[in-house]
Amino acid sequence: RPRVLSGIQPTADSFHFGNYLGALRQWVGLQDSHEPFFFIADLHAITVEQEPKVLRERTRRAAAQLVAMGIDPAQSAIFAQSAVPAHAQLGWVLQCMTGFGEARRMTQFKDKSAKQGEGSASVGLFTYPILQAADILLYRPQYVPVGEDQRQHLELTRDLAQRFNSRYKKTFRLPEPYILKETAKIVDLQDPTRKMSKSASSPSGIIDLLDDPKVSAKKIRSAVTDSEAEIRFDAEDKPGLSNLLTIHSAISGESIDSLVERFAGHGYGDLKKELAEVVVDFVTPFRDTTLALLEDRTHLDQILADGAARANEVAERTLRDVYERVGFAIPA
Ligand code: TYM
Repeated sequence: RPRVLSGIQPTADSFHFGNYLGALRQWVGLQDSHEPFFFIADLHAITVEQEPKVLRERTRRAAAQLVAMGIDPAQSAIFAQSAVPAHAQLGWVLQCMTGFGEARRMTQFKDKSAKQGEGSASVGLFTYPILQAADILLYRPQYVPVGEDQRQHLELTRDLAQRFNSRYKKTFRLPEPYILKETAKIVDLQDPTRKMSKSASSPSGIIDLLDDPKVSAKKIRSAVTDSEAEIRFDAEDKPGLSNLLTIHSAISGESIDSLVERFAGHGYGDLKKELAEVVVDFVTPFRDTTLALLEDRTHLDQILADGAARANEVAERTLRDVYERVGFAIPA
């Protein structure tokens, strides 16, 4: 079976609907047909300062959420990135093959460093996409399920893979981004011109999976839409309303066309009310399962340890090939 790999940063207490619809749902969907590796990107998380206790807790919470949403630890390796040293090791090799200007073109770095002032952003934030390339290439995956905001990092990953393969010897598989058009970019409920984001959205713009369901329902009812009254899908002119239709359709399984037809002649309030119910029905059991999993730390830590063992086996093998090809004198 071809492999699938992806990662998520443990930088909040809860995943949000952007993470879930943009990426995590596809993780669940691909695990049966692929050999799956899913990790919690704690090395990436420290590119901005983290409180150690909080980071450790969030890594466990992330693992619990992955299991609660249907990632099966018997099938999928679930692990913390820091538990597989090859990520950082290959990251270094790839850093040495990346042009400074090439790294500088990464728009996510530009956005994030602009916020902090480029001079005070960490060097790790700058090299972040190269570590991401290492994360991916170590496992030689076919697909990397992510949201639209990761597309440029995937392109860099492919460029680096190709560069390594042609400079040395074919070592890496060129991974394909797996991005679903419909849900590639879930937007902020309060500012629909921006993506829903852990770091940039206001609390009322973001629906966290572990929020109190009543709070989520309220956020949906007060989502920003537009001043027309017609329910139709138009991501350009009606980004707020279209986002609500997208979320409804993704969770309920009803097509957008059918929603539009069913809500013809209704006000936005009716759509919001129904969506709030759809979301509450979805998050309530998810939240209960996650909280129950968090009661058993030993079990969660065991899942992470098993996942790390499987990941290390694959990653070490690739790293060994890389070290050998680069010219390091590895003892037999
Ligand atoms: P992160 O932790 O920011 O987000 C995790 C996943 O959620 C997707 N996503 C969204 N999709 C649609 N709409 C949104 N509003 C939205 N917000 C987030 C992201 O695209 C991502 O797929 N750099 C990565 C983590 C990472 C990684 C990797 C991913 C590190 N190494 C290797 C894949 C492969 C990140 O910060 O994702």
